[in-house]
Amino acid sequence: MARRNDRRRRVLAVRREVREDPQSTRSCYHKYEVEPGLFTPGQFLEVSPKLCLDELGVPQSLSGLRALDIGAFDGPFTFELERRGAQVTALDIQDPDITAFNAVKKIKNSSVNYVRGSVYEACPETLGVYDIVLFAGVYYHLKNPVLAVQRVRTLLNDRGVLFIEGTSATDYLAEQLSNEFGLPRSRMRTITQILDRLPLSYFDFEDRIYGPWEVPGTRSGDCAPQLRSGQNWWFPTTRCLEMILLDSGFCNVCCKLELNAIYNYTHRRLMGRAEVDPAKSDPGNRKHENWVAEQDFPILNELVTGPPRSATGAAVRRLFWKLPPGLQRAARRVRRTLQPSS
Ligand SMILES: C[S@@+](CC[C@H](N)C(=O)[O-])C[C@H]1O[C@@H](n2cnc3c(N)ncnc32)[C@H](O)[C@@H]1O
Repeated sequence: MARRNDRRRRVLAVRREVREDPQSTRSCYHKYEVEPGLFTPGQFLEVSPKLCLDELGVPQSLSGLRALDIGAFDGPFTFELERRGAQVTALDIQDPDITAFNAVKKIKNSSVNYVRGSVYEACPETLGVYDIVLFAGVYYHLKNPVLAVQRVRTLLNDRGVLFIEGTSATDYLAEQLSNEFGLPRSRMRTITQILDRLPLSYFDFEDRIYGPWEVPGTRSGDCAPQLRSGQNWWFPTTRCLEMILLDSGFCNVCCKLELNAIYNYTHRRLMGRAEVDPAKSDPGNRKHENWVAEQDFPILNELVTGPPRSATGAAVRRLFWKLPPGLQRAARRVRRTLQPSS
């Protein structure tokens, strides 16, 4: 009875925290069911975490596995990974007391670990290594998604699997092209297919694809322009995302562009699964991507340092360099006889 009361008290406290306190609801992004009848008050995405992970191909049982949810926000997928049996860490730049994450963690009595930080700084030394990484809805918020994917690769063990989800430019570009050339709708499918097999990515500096994004809890009128844009940067095609993954140390890469449950089937998003390629343990570890020239051409070396000097030459020079001025001329003649080329 005491336990039931305690639980009820906690649920009510969190309910107040996530539903009735306007300060708290400002920062909640996901709406999802925490327990029967209790939903987080998210204003952007209403998700069924189970359905979303099923569509991404995440196995039903993760018992005995370590999973990392990068970009966890309010935690819908973190707690679903835990429900499936994994030992879970969530990584995000958000404060979990400001999002609904910690409130839900309390309700669920969960033992997931939350690390506040950026994927750019994520490394196995501090976070450990994982069997599964979920990287949903994040890469396009980053200006350097390739660097992020390289970091993710270092967080997976040799049998690790990455599940990735995010935006694509394919449908937007196909629409733009067919409007520009006045093509009939019947050609859209072909244009889309051609575009999607090209390794292109669109850098959306002008917020053309998703439009300005508003910070939760603000109205467009009273929101500073810098807060309303600049949230979404890179929109790759399917082929581009596949190539980034292949280049970053993954194999058996499979990406598809489809409507998905995360975005309530409103538009097509990229969903991918990639396995760690154990032969490429840390492709991001190179200091430079570009080849750095080395002075290994003998002819250039000679131009810079002069012709190579032989050991005899050095000995002869040592022998004569301290002679009195009167003997220097004779010495030079002897040196030329011994070393005709000097
Ligand atoms: C659109 S939400 C996606 C939330 C959830 N994963 C989903 O798919 O619905 C993007 C998340 O990525 C996080 N994020 C943005 N930049 C990040 C970074 N550099 N490192 C880690 N997380 C980041 C944001 O704070 C936010 O929680």
